[in-house]
Amino acid sequence: MEEANQSVVSEFIFQGLCDSQELQVILLLPVSILYLMTVLGNLFVVLLTITDHNLHSPMYFLLANLSFVDSCLSSVTTPKLITDLLKDDKTISFEGCMAQILCVHFFGGGEMVLLVTMAYDRYVAICKPLHYSSIMDRQKCIWLVLTSWIIGFVHAMSQLAMILELPFCGPRVVDSFFCDIPLVIKLACMDTDTLRIVINADSGLLATTCFILVLVSYTYILFTIHLNAKEGASKALSTCTSHITVVVLFFGPCIFIYLWPVSITWVNKFLAVFYTVITPLMNPAIYTLRNKEIKNAIKRLTNQHVNSRDNC
Ligand SMILES: *[C@@H]1O[C@H](CO)[C@@H](O)[C@H](O)[C@H]1NC(C)=O
Repeated sequence: MEEANQSVVSEFIFQGLCDSQELQVILLLPVSILYLMTVLGNLFVVLLTITDHNLHSPMYFLLANLSFVDSCLSSVTTPKLITDLLKDDKTISFEGCMAQILCVHFFGGGEMVLLVTMAYDRYVAICKPLHYSSIMDRQKCIWLVLTSWIIGFVHAMSQLAMILELPFCGPRVVDSFFCDIPLVIKLACMDTDTLRIVINADSGLLATTCFILVLVSYTYILFTIHLNAKEGASKALSTCTSHITVVVLFFGPCIFIYLWPVSITWVNKFLAVFYTVITPLMNPAIYTLRNKEIKNAIKRLTNQHVNSRDNC
């Protein structure tokens, strides 16, 4: 009897962004445009970095990786959100739900470590400029990127392993627009208090560790810039402020969702939209609008284009 009762749930139902059908239809266009801009903007940064030889340095390789992860992260949840805005029954299969959890934590975890790597790269470049090329050589850079992916993967697998075996027997409504672990474990037919603490600690630990490392790194950098406030300081400062903005935008919502003791549904939903739709768009926007090298690369690209058209 018990056996039969378990794993009855083969799909979950999303509550969606909001209750009002009209509002959802109104949201369709802006969300679709934001998503399109996210994917195109990030892929543009990746292509620009690959094609422009002036951008072949660790900082831009890491930036390109960040852009790539951002477009993946956004693609895990947003397309489903967009198609669901038009539907009354927003269902997702059990496997689809687990896949979403796996991917969100894989790309999200990877991105966190990547942000640490970028902070470390800036630390070496600004605090140890003379040793930069020997410390951040090509091999080290590949190794750091690989480490981010591996940590993201291990983190995602550990999260998935904890919920895959949970018995889901009745309730199926997830009060969100994607499968977020805290909301999904609430539906399990058993006492999940301890499990919830372990799962939150897992994500919280990764997020907090990365956040502290990033913070330490930028503190060092800001001190160093302050001490040699002469040549090159303003350029370094502007690079760092764009990095710091991205870091705050990314870690803020995560830490709030996973470590804040009280959870308010609409705040959590708003933050979820923020870090799956808005943050991935902000990264390319912040870097391309503020970064001189990237602006120059875009100029070179458009000039090339104009020249080749003139030659024809
Ligand atoms: C990510 O970084 C590695 C290591 O530097 C680089 O070789 C690769 O091209 C980057 N990937 C993307 C998508 O930019």
